[in-house]
Order: sequence, then structure tokens, then C-alpha cells
Amino acid sequence: MAASRGEFGSRLGFIMAAAGSAVGLGNIWNFPTTMAGNGGAAFVLVYLALAFLLAYPVLMAELTLGRHAHGNMITALAKVSSNGTQRGIGMLIGVTGIFTASLILSFYAIIAGWMMGFGLAFPLEAIGSQGAADWLRTDGLMRNLGLMFGFVILTMLVVAGGVEAGIERWSKRLMPMLILTLLALVAYVATLDGAGAGFREYLVPDVSELMSANILTDAMGAAFFSLSLGVGTMLVYGSYVADNEHLPSLGVQVALVDVGIAVLAGFLILPAMYVAAAQGVEIFGAQGELISGPTLIFDVLVQLFAGMEATGMVLATAFFGLMSIAALTSSISMLEVPVSFLVERFQWSRMQASLVASMIITVMSAVIIMNFGALFGLVVTASTEIAQPLLGLGLCIYAGWVWNRNSLLSELAKNEPSEQFTLFMRIWPVYAQTVCPLIIVVIVGQTLF
Ligand code: PHE
Repeated sequence: MAASRGEFGSRLGFIMAAAGSAVGLGNIWNFPTTMAGNGGAAFVLVYLALAFLLAYPVLMAELTLGRHAHGNMITALAKVSSNGTQRGIGMLIGVTGIFTASLILSFYAIIAGWMMGFGLAFPLEAIGSQGAADWLRTDGLMRNLGLMFGFVILTMLVVAGGVEAGIERWSKRLMPMLILTLLALVAYVATLDGAGAGFREYLVPDVSELMSANILTDAMGAAFFSLSLGVGTMLVYGSYVADNEHLPSLGVQVALVDVGIAVLAGFLILPAMYVAAAQGVEIFGAQGELISGPTLIFDVLVQLFAGMEATGMVLATAFFGLMSIAALTSSISMLEVPVSFLVERFQWSRMQASLVASMIITVMSAVIIMNFGALFGLVVTASTEIAQPLLGLGLCIYAGWVWNRNSLLSELAKNEPSEQFTLFMRIWPVYAQTVCPLIIVVIVGQTLF
């Protein structure tokens, strides 16, 4: 591979970085919130099924295309094309992916900024800076803009640092901290009054919910969002993987960590909602449904933590600190998408590319903040429930139909120490070519019409 390109220094480094990308607000903010709005356990079942039957094969398409091209999404789709039309469409898909990654980062940075704000507010309160703490926790234009900007700057600094020294090093440090804090919080909340009702809601499916119209759309969006699919993130990370790594098992590990943490986060959020309810917090809406929406975990958890005095302060700081970390290891992977394109296409330095991409994203994000009611939900739905699955469809078609089968198989064979034809090689190409596009078309079709 070209010496100038970055590469992950170790297998663990890749898994941490890819899992770091996957695990983020999608698992701990979006998944529990969407689940609460879709009846708990029934949603979890659909989500798990789609994660393994659809999202994992799409993840493999991205990783394989990326490693084959050792380049960004546009390069990768062009490399497997055999004529000008295919290259042209591939370019269009690649550009849409880069734009979608930037769009996702522009709403992501807003929520991540709130996480940082809440994480700072509790310790500030403890040392007596009540005014600053209140400012950080109260909705306001300047607060939202300031925190978003702070978060984008942090993201930019890590990405500018490069693949191994920036992304890999930080993911390796931050991911284990995240998992430990989450486990501690789940264990703690489980001991509180009311947690049992939350576990029931989470674990015992209400079969009638399986028929609800939104469940497939929401679960597919959640799975694509959570595994960072469609926008070229995993493709670019795949391009930094060495040729002798076994991609199918790396992919399984990333998917398992991601789904595992989403499920674990559910064990925190639903019980926490019911614990809060036991303390008098309103968690049901007008129709008796669980409340959901972007501010759910802030509202519910803050009230929960507030009832716990000093312990609450420590837990709140841990939780929101953890969320900020999880968001950062994801946001760096989003920013890497436009940055790798600018570096490879225009030979910019990583610093210059990170700076320019971050500034554009800051402007997009500021527009969303200033029109929050009208734009936020729209941008989230359009990017995660429509653009990500459709881009995933494009990637499956390029991996399955456009890419010459022999060349695809020899890329997959690089994984294998011997010449043997593995089960994965037998099943996946056909599956990704037929079943995945079908599922995506049916669900997106149902959403749109
Ligand atoms: N997977 C990330 C999360 O769960 C979000 C993400 C989406 C990251 C798309 C990269 C690309 O928070």
C-alpha cells in the first residue's frame, strides 16, 4: 500500500477505532429513545434481527470495498467500476456519502455538545459555580452554539492528529473507560426502587407492537446509524486495515460490541426512567406511552441524579463524561470521511482538510441550531432513516453486482491463510447482492409511500 496513507497499527487498534465509531450517541441516546417510543422489547427484537441480517452484511461490503481500494468511498466505487457510467454513478454515491456524513456530524455535534455541557455542569455546581452550571444546563442559543463549536474543535484536533497517533490512540484509551462506566451505572441503577418495572418493559415483548407501522423504519435507521453505515466511515476505516487481516471476523467483533453496548444502554435507560417515575418524575405522555425525543435522557437522568445528592453528582459527571467520550470517538470517524477525501483528492495536509471540513460543518450545525424545531428532527430522519439505508443499498449493489466477481473473491480470499473457500465467501456475496437490497427497498419504500 502507498506509504503516505495511514494504517491502523494493530488489530486491536482497528477494532477499538471501528467500535469507537459505531458506539456513540446512536447506542446510548438514539437507541433507548427510539426503543422507548416503540414499545421496548418488541423493538429490541426487530433491531437485533436487522443488525445481524442486514447491517452486518452491509458493514462487510464497506470494509471489503475500502480495503480493496485503500482509498475513500469515491475512489473505492470507481475502482470496482468497469465503465464510465458506473464510475459516474459511483462518484454520485460517494459525494452523497460525504455530504451525509457531514450532515450527520452537524446534528451530532449539537447533542454531543449538550453532553459535554452537562458533564461540566455537575462538577462546576459542586465547587459553587451555580451560575455557570445553570447556564450549561439550560436551553439557550449561545449555550447550544458554544458547546457545539467546542465539540467540533475537539473532533478536529483528534482528526488532524492522524490515523494512528490520533484516532487509534484515543479510541484505545477511551473505549474501555466507556464500557466500565456504563457497567457501573447499570449495576447501580438496578439496585434502586422501580428498576424492576423498567427491566420488564425492556425484556418482555408486547407482540402487538411488532405490527406498528414505524417499527421497521425506526429499527433499520437505528441499526444503520449505530453501525455507522452507508456514509463511507467504515469504508475508510476498512481502507486502513492491513491486507492480512480477516475482515469477516473483525466485522463480527465490531458489530457485537456495538449491538452489545446498545443493549447494555437499554438496561440503563429504561430502568432509569422507571426509577425516576418512582421518584415522581413524569415519564409517560398523554396517550400513556413512554416519552421519547432528543431531550429524553437529559430530562429523565438529570431528575434521577438530582434525587441522589452527592452520589448523583458523581454519577452524572461519569455518565455525561462517558457520553461525550463515546460521541467523540464517533464524530472523529464522521469527520474522517470528508477529510480523507480532501487529503486524497487535493493533496491537502490533514490539518488543512480538518480545518476546512470542520468550519463547513460548524456553519451547517449553526443553521440547525437556529431553526431547531423545524430542522433537527427532519435532518435526523432524512439522514439516518433514508440516506444511510439508500447509500447502503448503493454499496451492496457495487459490491455485489458491479464489482467483478473474481476480483471480489480474491479480495475476500486475502483474509484466508489457505486457499479454502469459506462459508462466508460462499454465502455473503450472493446474500449482499440479493437479500440486502430487497430488505432495504421494502423498508424504505414503506417509509416513503
Ligand atoms: N455510529 C455512531 C453512533 O452510534 C454514529 C455514526 C453514524 C458514526 C455515521 C459515523 C457515521 O453514535
